[in-house]
Amino acid sequence: MNLKTFGEYYYFLRFDATRKEEMAKLFEVITTNETSFYRNPPQLKVFQDDILPATLDGIRKRGQKKLRIWSAGCSTGEEPYTLSIILHEVLKTELSQWDIKITANDLSEAVLKAARQGRYSEYALRTTPKEIVDKYFIKRDTVYDVQPKLKPIINFAPINLSDRFMLKRNEKSNIIFCRNVIIYFDDEMKRQVIESFYDNLLPGGCMLIGHSESLHNISRTFKPEHHVGTIVYRKQA
Ligand SMILES: C[S@@+](CC[C@H](N)C(=O)[O-])C[C@H]1O[C@@H](n2cnc3c(N)ncnc32)[C@H](O)[C@@H]1O
Repeated sequence: MNLKTFGEYYYFLRFDATRKEEMAKLFEVITTNETSFYRNPPQLKVFQDDILPATLDGIRKRGQKKLRIWSAGCSTGEEPYTLSIILHEVLKTELSQWDIKITANDLSEAVLKAARQGRYSEYALRTTPKEIVDKYFIKRDTVYDVQPKLKPIINFAPINLSDRFMLKRNEKSNIIFCRNVIIYFDDEMKRQVIESFYDNLLPGGCMLIGHSESLHNISRTFKPEHHVGTIVYRKQA
């Protein structure tokens, strides 16, 4: 850009008429988009065998069939598609009777574009059970396309998690996945984002974060629940 100092670049990002386009490019280069299908299998096992069935039962008991899941920082889509697969595995034919939405957000438009397309390499499926790959993907040469039936319940949209007003507009969730995202934030932003998630969750709802992340010194509002291989953070009912 022919700018000589970081100060000039900062000034550009704050005041130039084309700052929004440059900001989007900056986001692309400074974010880490590492992800995969079935990332952290022990945590997903707890979700599939315990958290999800209990959540669905609670909703059924209230005479409802509406479920909202939020995948915040979804990168190229492997996480929300994994959640869609697990929902299909757990609900089977009952799924069509439910009103289900997975809101999948990311800062980067480029990763969202790839996510909407749903085309992956074998590497993205390295921790995915073979029977799941056979059942939910269409293999064409060296690429794997997600089965179209996984897509309708997912809504991919851009969001910056630092924008608390945007987060407030998000529909209330039963379950939030925000894995391997807050690790890149400073403590103040972690607190702000976790507080927004707490406000967004329905009473009794829960949040799952990344394997190497913790809410230590960040939030005491959630009740940590210890499961084999993972901690689930619960909002009191
Ligand atoms: C390492 S990936 C994690 C993807 C997935 N959740 C997983 O665990 O596999 C982190 C993602 O968070 C997104 N991200 C980082 N900062 C963000 C922000 N302020 N708002 C929204 N998304 C953000 C990045 O663009 C990136 O795609």
